[in-house]
Amino acid sequence: MNAPAQQKMKIASGERDSARAKLSELTQLLLPFAIRGLATLGVADALVGGPLPVDAIAKTVGADTDALYRTLRYTASRGVFVEFPGRVFALTSLANWLREDVPGSMRPRLMIDDGLVNRLQVFSEVVHTLRTGESAYQKIRGGSPFDASAADRETAARFHRQLRPGTQTWPEALVEVTGFAAGTKVVDVGGGTGTVLGTILSREPALTGVLFDQPPVIEEAAAVLDSLGVADRCETTGGDMFQGVPAGGDTYLLSFVLHDWPDDQAGALLANVRAAMADDARLLIVEALIGDDEERAAQAVQQDFMMMLHGVGRERTVTEHSELLERAGFVLGGVTPLGPGLSVLEARRALDGD
Ligand SMILES: C[S@@+](CC[C@H](N)C(=O)[O-])C[C@H]1O[C@@H](n2cnc3c(N)ncnc32)[C@H](O)[C@@H]1O
Repeated sequence: MNAPAQQKMKIASGERDSARAKLSELTQLLLPFAIRGLATLGVADALVGGPLPVDAIAKTVGADTDALYRTLRYTASRGVFVEFPGRVFALTSLANWLREDVPGSMRPRLMIDDGLVNRLQVFSEVVHTLRTGESAYQKIRGGSPFDASAADRETAARFHRQLRPGTQTWPEALVEVTGFAAGTKVVDVGGGTGTVLGTILSREPALTGVLFDQPPVIEEAAAVLDSLGVADRCETTGGDMFQGVPAGGDTYLLSFVLHDWPDDQAGALLANVRAAMADDARLLIVEALIGDDEERAAQAVQQDFMMMLHGVGRERTVTEHSELLERAGFVLGGVTPLGPGLSVLEARRALDGD
């Protein structure tokens, strides 16, 4: 073989090896469990004061020293923690997000608990979904994941603890970009335990709110609203949004709610919101939109895949939202980005002549 041909083969096999390595990285299952195990034990929290020898960490978090050492060594080899001589470990910028006390902490969603075990069982049914189009969740459990939180306060509390870090920053952006007139009553439909509405009310002292969700979820809300100092301006109402939603709001908010449902149920929910709204009230929908830009699309398509397996809903494009709204008697106004991966859509009731 001549030299240029040899060179070409080298490049081709180099590319093939790096593609294989990348695929192997994308499909590997061990590292996520090492990180999740350490997050569950609270190892990053034990290192907040600075580097520590592994036996001291083990004592603080209640771990076996050898098992903890081997796990930390593995995650340090991938840059999650850092190892110093003498079996001493410290946080890195990645491990910092495993601390419970940082705003936006990833620890709650990485904890190994019954919720994760159930999700893994659902994910492993991906072939069923691929072949039939039926959600893996429905195959295993039937119904929607919210049936579980409707039935039991502990499930509701766990789900909302996991959601909370993701809802700590964007409500402030929502206040900035949409603006709320003084005296506005905001009704948050499917508002969870109140982090979103509470944050909006804490930013805007002249607003009042109504938090509406399933009864076991609402039971968890008092502590959240109290901690945000807005409990006296926020009513809480438990109920089923498919039966009806509280009337009398000036602004209705649906954040990450429509994406939980297929078009027929999302349409039924929108019709209930419309029935509760006055002509001059507005509806704000916060969702990750498919097809905005590359970064957003990547997040939205991941979430959409999750919905397909572990729920009954889907992420939508602006056009799909617009069609859904139109069918339910709304007119879509503006669409404004709120931050990486999400947007707010503003709609109002369609009136005669629209
Ligand atoms: C993905 S969470 C979004 C929570 C919150 N809006 C946020 O942005 O963090 C969807 C919410 O819809 C609520 N939900 C589901 N089905 C409901 C129903 N039938 N009636 C009232 N709320 C419901 C759930 O309990 C949950 O709080």
